[in-house]
Amino acid sequence: MAADIVDLIGQFVQLKKAGRNYVGLCPFHGEKDPSFSVNQERQTFHCFGCKRGGDIFSFWMEYHNISFMEAMNDLADRYNIQISGGCNPEIARKAKDRRKSLYMLNQHAMEYFQGVLQDSVKGKPARKYLEKRLLSRDIIDRFCLGYASDQWEGLTQHLRRRGEDLDLASEAGLIVPKKNRSFYDRFRKRLIFPIFDYRAQVIGFGGRVLDKSKPKYINTPESPIFHKGESLYGLQTSIEAIRAKGSAIIVEGYMDCLALKKNAMEEVVATLGTALTTDHIRRLKGYVKEVIVIFDSDQAGQAAVVRSLPLFSNEALEARMVVLPEGHDPDSFINTYGMGQFSNLLQTAVPILDFFLELKLKEQETDEGKIFVMNEILKVFSEIRNLPLRSLYVRRLADKIGIREDIVLSELSKITSKRSFKPYADMTKSPVPVKAEINVSDLQLLSLLVNYTSAVPQLVDIDCQPLLTSTVAIEIVNSIFEVYLKFGEVAYSELEDVLKTDAAREQLREIQHRPFVVYSQEDVKQAIMECKEKINHKKLLASLKKAKGDIQAQNWLVKDYKKKDCEI
Ligand code: UTP
Ligand code: MN
Repeated sequence: MAADIVDLIGQFVQLKKAGRNYVGLCPFHGEKDPSFSVNQERQTFHCFGCKRGGDIFSFWMEYHNISFMEAMNDLADRYNIQISGGCNPEIARKAKDRRKSLYMLNQHAMEYFQGVLQDSVKGKPARKYLEKRLLSRDIIDRFCLGYASDQWEGLTQHLRRRGEDLDLASEAGLIVPKKNRSFYDRFRKRLIFPIFDYRAQVIGFGGRVLDKSKPKYINTPESPIFHKGESLYGLQTSIEAIRAKGSAIIVEGYMDCLALKKNAMEEVVATLGTALTTDHIRRLKGYVKEVIVIFDSDQAGQAAVVRSLPLFSNEALEARMVVLPEGHDPDSFINTYGMGQFSNLLQTAVPILDFFLELKLKEQETDEGKIFVMNEILKVFSEIRNLPLRSLYVRRLADKIGIREDIVLSELSKITSKRSFKPYADMTKSPVPVKAEINVSDLQLLSLLVNYTSAVPQLVDIDCQPLLTSTVAIEIVNSIFEVYLKFGEVAYSELEDVLKTDAAREQLREIQHRPFVVYSQEDVKQAIMECKEKINHKKLLASLKKAKGDIQAQNWLVKDYKKKDCEI
């Protein structure tokens, strides 16, 4: 069972759902009206009365009056939480044993599925399907393919008969708990693809329907041993070949991987239906000098290429791309045109940069269109941290698009300067005196940023910090912007760690736990516009002060301000 804060606190405090929070009487100070709030989404609690708050560990410490270490040990035992860092050897050992048990359970499940596939009656439809997909017994055995038949409790019964821990099997994602303490099989009526890590331990499964029903594939959910966005299908059988060749082929699907394997092309792995991530690339980087990526020719496949360019550049791994004819994936291509044609196609692989430029530039014919895609391309380039490489890329773009390199560079620096973060720490420049106390207008801006993530990029753009008057608000807003500019999004769960003062953490929690006024898209737009107006007004006043005595300059400033105001 996972440790859920509502579940845990609910055992000690009577909680009632109120909007997006749960509220109850604070256990830490006497009160008649509930001001104690628990947020499930963020796994935090906060009391508006006594200001105590934090996560599940803080609650446990406070409630039982114990140290952090004791709280961690208690909760680890209670919820079988896996604790990293090895602070307590006993717990570290338990966590390791637990992982081992999860691998074992997966292994038993895999053998069960293999048995069903070979069962003369139950496995028949799946064997027929595999034949249709041209997968031989050899591949079936090498990849330990199996079948989950049309039973609700096939695997569940099997594991129960073996005396396995069913709660653990449910944590492995093999079976799903029902209300009455019993379980049912997650995979039913599906072809089973076991997924291994590089040590050939079974970490999870993919399951495909035999017909046209949806969803086509389901996967093991995230578990202590299975992380979809890091795993590569086929890796356990490919490492040797990948190391020997110094290159790897990355495809999108299980079937594509098997089609290449079947044809003795061994240096292949597949992602599991997620976009390519830095973790995938790091997994391969140690073995190879370059990779060849073959993504589907559809929209999603192309978007994936665009996103992966900076990942490869930042990991300094060369990547080339292969485009398949419309409507084909590697599996269907090989089964239609044969392996010879496929090898020819591999020869035509182009460096990812060329592929990307080609893809983007062919979208546009007109001059205006070119400028537009140039900016799109530069946005992607701006994510590349290797500056020499980035400048080479800029030269290539300038050549291709026919715009002078220095102009392309200056456009790029416009984008990157917006991203590089200048914290608004220079209090002396603040047009308003900075106070410790937070006021209503600070609170409004903060709740906009915290509750409407879509507003963050625009508020970063307009430099809204000068509107704030309190140190706490400035610290929170600076941190939000910093995290956004670094990662492209703001995970509010992690923001607390970034904040430096307790006052700021407390304030952030308070905002997150406030009853939530739901704004429409229009309201959010309106609020951002008002910020813009206020900022322009502030800037005008500051500039007018500076231009004191220079009537002409003052006139010009006012004119410019009016123009901006109209634009808004
Ligand atoms: P595709 O839809 O391209 O399937 O998804 P495929 O691999 O070509 O499968 P076949 O040939 O129809 O049997 C590519 C990959 O995306 C993931 C799977 O990992 C799949 O191999 N996927 C796809 C899912 O996880 N869920 C889905 O519903 C579909
Ligand atoms: Mn396919």
